[in-house]
Amino acid sequence: METCFLTTFVIILLFCLAETCYGGGVMFSSLPQTLVVSASPQQGQGNCSTLLYTAEKTHKHEESSVLNAGEDTITLTWGLNQSFTADMADQLYKNVIVKLCYAPISQVDRAWRKTVDNLSKDKTCQFTIVNKPYQRNQSSDQWMVEKDVPTATYFVRAYAYNSAGEEMAYGQTTDDGKKSSNLFEIRGITGRHLSLHVASACFSAFSLASLFGLFWMERRKVSVKK
Ligand SMILES: *[C@@H]1O[C@H](CO)[C@@H](O)[C@H](O)[C@H]1NC(C)=O
Ligand SMILES: *[C@@H]1O[C@H](CO)[C@@H](O)[C@H](O)[C@H]1NC(C)=O
Ligand SMILES: *[C@@H]1O[C@H](CO)[C@@H](O)[C@H](O)[C@H]1NC(C)=O
Ligand SMILES: *[C@@H]1O[C@H](CO)[C@@H](O)[C@H](O)[C@H]1NC(C)=O
Repeated sequence: METCFLTTFVIILLFCLAETCYGGGVMFSSLPQTLVVSASPQQGQGNCSTLLYTAEKTHKHEESSVLNAGEDTITLTWGLNQSFTADMADQLYKNVIVKLCYAPISQVDRAWRKTVDNLSKDKTCQFTIVNKPYQRNQSSDQWMVEKDVPTATYFVRAYAYNSAGEEMAYGQTTDDGKKSSNLFEIRGITGRHLSLHVASACFSAFSLASLFGLFWMERRKVSVKK
C-alpha cells in the first residue's frame, strides 16, 4: 500500500517536472487558485475636468462602473486564500504580479487578445498593475488606469511566481468558467468624446469668468466717469 502511494507520488512529481515545471511554458489550467483578489473601481475626483465630468455623467445616468484611462483609479487587494496552507505558499511564492485582463466579450475576433492555456503564449492579461514580493497577508494598492489602456471590458488576475519566475498559482476577480461576473469597463483616451465636452465645459467656465470680469471693468469705468 505504502509503496503504491510512493510510486504514484513519484510519477506525479516526474510528470510535473516533465510537463509543466520545466517543459517550457506553464499551463494555466494546471495552476491552483490559491490567491484571493479584489478590485474596486473608483472614479477620480479633484479637478475641474473630473468634477465636470462626474456632473455630466450623473446627469446622463451613466453606469458608474465605467473608468476613464488616465483619470480613474482601481483599489486592489490580494493575498493568500486562508483555506490553503500558508507554509507551502510562503516557501514557494516569491512575488505576485497583478494584471489587468481582457474579458471574453472584448476578445471576440481579436487574435491579439486570445486566451491560450500555455501561459507563455497567453494574451489575456497584457497590463501589469502591481509587481510586489509575495506576502501571505492581504496587501492593497491603488492603481490609476494608465493612459495607454484601450477601451474594453476587463477583470483583474494575480499570479504568484516562484524564484525561477514561473507561475505557481493565481487568483482573479471574475468566475473561473465563463469569466462573466464582476467585470468593469475602461474607456480609453481615444474614442472618448465626453472629454472633449469636458474640455469645452472647462473652457466655457473660464470664458464666462472673463466675461464677468470685463463686464465688471466696464461698469467700473462707467461709474468712475460719473
Ligand atoms: C509553450 O509555449 C512556449 C513558447 O512558444 C514553448 O516553448 C513551449 O514548448 C510551450 N509549451 C508547451 C507545453 O506546449
Ligand atoms: C487632474 O487631471 C489631470 C489630468 O487629467 C491629472 O493628471 C491630475 O492628477 C488630476 N488632479 C487631481 C487632483 O485629481
Ligand atoms: C478559498 O478557497 C476555498 C477552497 O478552495 C474556496 O471554497 C473559497 O471560496 C475561497 N475563498 C475565496 C474568498 O475565494
Ligand atoms: C499578518 O496578519 C496577522 C493577523 O492579522 C498578523 O498577526 C501578522 O503580524 C501579519 N504578518 C505580516 C507579515 O504582516
